[in-house]
Amino acid sequence: MIRVKEKDFPSFEASADFLAGEIVCFLSSCGSRKTVQKGRLMDFTSTVIIPLLFGSVGIFALFRLLQWMRMRAYLQEAVVVITGATSGLGKECAKAFHAAGCKLVLCGRDSEKLQDVVQQLSTVTNHRKKTHKPHTVVFDLSDTKTVLNAAEEILKYLGHVDILINNAGISFRGTIVDTVLDVDKKVMETNYFGPIALTKALLPSMIKRRQGHIVAISSVQGKISIPFRSAYAASKHATQAFFDCLRAEVEQYDIDVTVISPGYIQTNLSRNAVTADGSHYGVTDKNTMEGQTAAEVAQVVLNAVGQKKKEVLVAGLKPSLAVYLRNLCPRLFFSLMADRAKKERKAKAS
Ligand SMILES: NC(=O)c1ccc[n+]([C@@H]2O[C@H](COP(=O)([O-])OP(=O)(O)OC[C@H]3O[C@@H](n4cnc5c(N)ncnc54)[C@H](OP(=O)(O)O)[C@@H]3O)[C@@H](O)[C@H]2O)c1
Repeated sequence: MIRVKEKDFPSFEASADFLAGEIVCFLSSCGSRKTVQKGRLMDFTSTVIIPLLFGSVGIFALFRLLQWMRMRAYLQEAVVVITGATSGLGKECAKAFHAAGCKLVLCGRDSEKLQDVVQQLSTVTNHRKKTHKPHTVVFDLSDTKTVLNAAEEILKYLGHVDILINNAGISFRGTIVDTVLDVDKKVMETNYFGPIALTKALLPSMIKRRQGHIVAISSVQGKISIPFRSAYAASKHATQAFFDCLRAEVEQYDIDVTVISPGYIQTNLSRNAVTADGSHYGVTDKNTMEGQTAAEVAQVVLNAVGQKKKEVLVAGLKPSLAVYLRNLCPRLFFSLMADRAKKERKAKAS
């Protein structure tokens, strides 16, 4: 029989000491492992992540600089035709492209208003860039004959056009049932037939040079239709469709096409809108008042042209979502538009 003596077992104190020692040892080994890991992480951060971060920022900055230099070179001395240059977005585009060193041809219906814009531009001094006194051409976009004469005059005077900005336009307010057909035609002539007539008149010379850039200022309403804007939305949908076709057809001649689709802009568009019977609307809507400034949108146009973008949507979250909703969930979009129509009718009646 084996007798186990009491002293063969360690005392409770000794066991506790031993255990405590083991725990301290474990913890300190953990601690030192953690320190080693932390050290390795810091090494990794300082040798890999930080240089990678700085490198990416550097490459991005270089890319932006090259893009900016290319844009500068592209716009400097370019012959740029802007329609609707007497007001709103057209006027601000005139300022932006003038400052970029372009040779401008400002178009409008009113010669005096055009001269005012030329006068305003002449007071702007740009020490860093050579600017040019703009040329002006007066014509009404809804009269095709005058549009063709204007195109001839532009080519005669400047020889060629590098960039055509189809900006001029009018808006519309009214119910479809009340709107006389002449109003639909007027909006379509100004917003669609006029710009395409000018584009077609200038296109052959661009094709001949294998160089040119055509810009269409469309609208979010070229992608979605909202109630009581039928003629306007239809004209902008037609614009989008025409210039999308054009882009595909002229790519082989190295001609660029950019369609810009803004949301609301703080201009006279709503005030100058025509109504169902052809009269002047004369009201600046709340949405228009709360829109982007024309100067902001003009900068977007300048950058889009400089970067030869094919399409730009210049709108806030709500209109942008509406465009996606129209395509992804049309039933929901249609019911939202029907609600909007009901609300607007109610508000008008009260
Ligand atoms: N404002 C917005 O909320 C908004 C939103 C999306 C898209 N857009 C688009 O932006 C473009 C510019 O409009 P805007 O907002 O700057 O409006 P705006 O201030 O009313 O300017 C419109 C310009 O178009 C010219 N125009 C109108 N009818 C013409 C015609 N028959 N022939 C020649 N020129 C004519 C006007 O000339 P007059 O000075 O002689 O009237 C004016 O220079 C339009 O295509 C519009 O559809 C505007």
